[in-house]
Amino acid sequence: MSYTSLYKRTNNMIKYLKTDPWKIIEEGFKRKHHRSSESIFSIGNGRFGQRANHEEKFTGPSLQGSYVAGVYYPDKTRVGWWKNGYPEYFAKVLNSTNWIGVRVFIEDEEVDFATCITSNFSRVLDMKEGHLFRTFNIEMPSGKIVNVEAKRFCSIADDETAAISYSVTPLNFTGMIRFQPYLDGDVKNHDSNYEEKFWEHLKSESFAGEGYLVTRTRKTEFDVAVGMALRVTLKNKEIEPSYHHSQRDFYSENNFEKGVNQGETIILYKFVGVVSSLNYSKDDLLAMCKKATRRAHGLGFEKMLDAQILSWAAVWQLADIVIEGDEEAQQAIRFNIFQMNQTYTGEDARLNIGPKGFTGEKYGGSTYWDTEAYCLPFYMSTKDQKVARQLLIYRYNHLGRAIENAEKLGFKNGAALYPMVTMNGEECHNEWEITFEEIHRNGAIAYAIYNYVNYTNDRNYLSEYGLDVLIGICRFWAQRVNWSEAKKQYVMHGVTGPNEYENNANNNWYTSYFATWCLRYCIKVIDEVQKSAPDAFSKKVKKYQFAKDDETKQWRHIIDNMYFGKLEGTNILLQQDGFMDKELRKVVDLNDAERPINQHWSWDRILRSCFIKQADVLQGLYFFEHEFSTQELKDNFDFYEPMTVHESSLSPCVHSILAAKLGYEEKAYEMYMRTSRLDLDDYNHEAHEGLHITSMAGTWMSVVQGFGGMRIEGDELKFNAMLPKQWKSYSFNVLFRGKIINVHVDSAGVVVN
Ligand code: BGC
Repeated sequence: MSYTSLYKRTNNMIKYLKTDPWKIIEEGFKRKHHRSSESIFSIGNGRFGQRANHEEKFTGPSLQGSYVAGVYYPDKTRVGWWKNGYPEYFAKVLNSTNWIGVRVFIEDEEVDFATCITSNFSRVLDMKEGHLFRTFNIEMPSGKIVNVEAKRFCSIADDETAAISYSVTPLNFTGMIRFQPYLDGDVKNHDSNYEEKFWEHLKSESFAGEGYLVTRTRKTEFDVAVGMALRVTLKNKEIEPSYHHSQRDFYSENNFEKGVNQGETIILYKFVGVVSSLNYSKDDLLAMCKKATRRAHGLGFEKMLDAQILSWAAVWQLADIVIEGDEEAQQAIRFNIFQMNQTYTGEDARLNIGPKGFTGEKYGGSTYWDTEAYCLPFYMSTKDQKVARQLLIYRYNHLGRAIENAEKLGFKNGAALYPMVTMNGEECHNEWEITFEEIHRNGAIAYAIYNYVNYTNDRNYLSEYGLDVLIGICRFWAQRVNWSEAKKQYVMHGVTGPNEYENNANNNWYTSYFATWCLRYCIKVIDEVQKSAPDAFSKKVKKYQFAKDDETKQWRHIIDNMYFGKLEGTNILLQQDGFMDKELRKVVDLNDAERPINQHWSWDRILRSCFIKQADVLQGLYFFEHEFSTQELKDNFDFYEPMTVHESSLSPCVHSILAAKLGYEEKAYEMYMRTSRLDLDDYNHEAHEGLHITSMAGTWMSVVQGFGGMRIEGDELKFNAMLPKQWKSYSFNVLFRGKIINVHVDSAGVVVN
């Protein structure tokens, strides 16, 4: 069976975008998919970002979204039955001031993209240069037709600024064109629990050709100031229109009109500044916003765009992956790399990588285990090592909160349980099976330290920050296991592994293995730090009242006596107790109409079934591949993968990497396409909610670690590469300990430079 037929048979892809190596293109407005397009065409610069909402009025279905990194609202928890230990709130990523808005009037008729007749529509996300472009003709009820071209970007060269160029050309008449560019802070979150408003008005100002708005989040009291400054050209010459301006609470606008001859083009440039109290004192915020807005205005659109193109060129120089012979795969990998770079730049240790980045509201929070398990390798290899270090420091800075989180659940003695979802270190997820049970996240956070130190050889990190986090995490594991008199072994009850289609499982192999691995690793790190930095070590012993001998003795006892389920006479590591009692079925035997099962089956049916949401045992074998034989990896892959529905975006990439390692070329490719085109082809029918940003880093891993076979051994990087038969060649760069290494793979072999 060919790859395509397999792919089509098992999935309901939604394909409406054109393929291009550097661009995402929608030709002809696909109304039905507009909300998905709003996600897919999102733009951002690490500091702020937004969905691809239209600038002009649009009364059709749309999820409005402009987001500012680190600015959130603690939305009061909403559950049916309160359980002790639930967090009080869920941190919402906030829809904030809409700064793209431009109302457009042709004579006295307002352009409403939803109701006027549009033609020749095309929308292009240029990933090489970092901008979003739309063009279309629009016919007003009176029959007047104009052409519109709109280009915008969030500057990565100056991450407090953005710019929009919006042009209108009358095609069949001569008449008045009126523009009403505005800032609108009267916005809501679609996912608000109690229909609350999250923002308060602080100040609005308007001047001829300028406008400013300052709003404050309720409860968290973040101030955000947004500004606009305007320029206008007619027939490419700058003009000074007579602006009428006004403001009210939550709103600031300018308004001007100009007679335009048929065939001539009028362009409105809207320069935008976005700053928040995360970076400036509240007293200075408006002044800093004016400064940023005027800086952009002073530079002008073309110069800002040139800087944008240069900055993106620098990103691509290191991070690009070139795939020859398969345009869909090429487009997809660039889309993933592009979105990762739009979401997180590593400038600020308070920020992190939300599962939806700046592309939607779902998932709230900013930080999941996704960051450590999936995103870290991408940033480690395609950026200066300080970027990955920032991600680690983020967790170090939250250690105190992780200890408090554990205390709330009844743990003692400095045990740290990092949150499943957080903005500021506090847990804010409130489904008991995830909040209390999905404790494997602690493992990923410890593993990230190991991974980073292994890759960068930044061993000082351990004595400066890493050991503190490891001790807290190990203390948690040591209290979370319990001794079973029946088994005469340690067991771990009531957990949820990465596979969220099983709850309250006993002896989830992944979690138990991770717990013992953390204990083993921490003991090694203790020895290393004690030798290399004895003073730092003594300080930590004091600070955490660490009873090294007693505590590590107990840890060793756990390591030596932990229970792991295994199917007798085989290599199968049991996902949890009782797994073999389930009715074991294969995903290929499900009907397409039942999938995704999470949208068609009751939760009860899902929980009792054998179907696996995402890699669980296999996630462990991905992390700890070096501790198992190839036969063990193969037997477990062959056993679990056919039962895996991949209904988490995090699943296909890990399977692709393992499949590549095991020489399952077709499977590796199928999984690669699924991870890389997850949103572009909307496999899980959820692109309208936002993109799967964190799994995009997994896409990168499936090329570099999967097909490229990159592994670290001691101080060396090794590549055991394969070439999918659909590709002529591929090449990528990794930055390793200060050196850029280029890997090129084609049918003649592998060249590493
Ligand atoms: C996955 C989790 C993941 C979360 C955010 C869920 O669907 O099961 O593993 O952390 O999405 O990406």
